[in-house]
Amino acid sequence: MAIASASPAGAPAHRTLLVRPPSSALADGELTHLERVPVDADLAVQQWNRYVDVFRGLGWDVRELPAADSHPDGVFVEDTVVIFDGLAVLTRPGALSRRGEVESMRPAAEATGREVVEITSPGTLEGGDILKVGRTVYVGRTARTNAEGAAQLRSLLEPRGWRVVEVPVTRALHLKSAVTALPDGTVIGYEPTVDDVTRFDAFLPVPEAEGTAVVVLDETTVLLSDAAPATAELLRGRGLTVLTTPVTEFEKLEGCVTCLSVRVR
Ligand code: GLY
Repeated sequence: MAIASASPAGAPAHRTLLVRPPSSALADGELTHLERVPVDADLAVQQWNRYVDVFRGLGWDVRELPAADSHPDGVFVEDTVVIFDGLAVLTRPGALSRRGEVESMRPAAEATGREVVEITSPGTLEGGDILKVGRTVYVGRTARTNAEGAAQLRSLLEPRGWRVVEVPVTRALHLKSAVTALPDGTVIGYEPTVDDVTRFDAFLPVPEAEGTAVVVLDETTVLLSDAAPATAELLRGRGLTVLTTPVTEFEKLEGCVTCLSVRVR
């Protein structure tokens, strides 16, 4: 299986996955656009283990952050830090219930060897609102990421050669609840949840809401929710290898395959 990426010297590239086990209070997580429905806590743990095993099976180093039972949404660890080349940005979540998740991410951020900086008050920013496509960083302006947070990120990134593009997001919790990107940079999304598809350089609609979120594993492989079979077929038709995993219990809380981890590569 030609899945593992390789360094120029041919050795496997170093890839670390940062994750946090689900809180026993997961069912009490924040909801913005969805109605609350029962969450099966045991099934959530099973699905989380399967999700992590996908990466472990591909050779990623998995680093588990301490459990944070008092933070129902703590499993959505991507919201607490954003990784760039040379820089790890600790966030300041817009949801007050989530602010306390960030400090426990600091040691893992420092362990990446990057300069660690943070979004400060009155800025708010959550990692789910940050989509990197090549050297472009799309920043979703949501109830969680405000103008000041976006401006702070811009001032960090533009001097480092990134292009920062703010996009409105009113129909989904986070930008990456509405759109993500394929390995070739094509942005994919479920159109009813995308405010303005013209904001992206290349956009491909997908047929299922659960199909909006892909994790790029390498140049030809993506990970997708198994609740989006038609999207999987669409992406396979573009020549991609599509791995799928069940994340129903996290989707009930407006989570998806991207927000369950931070990929450091
Ligand atoms: N339930 C995920 C969030 O609102 O942050």
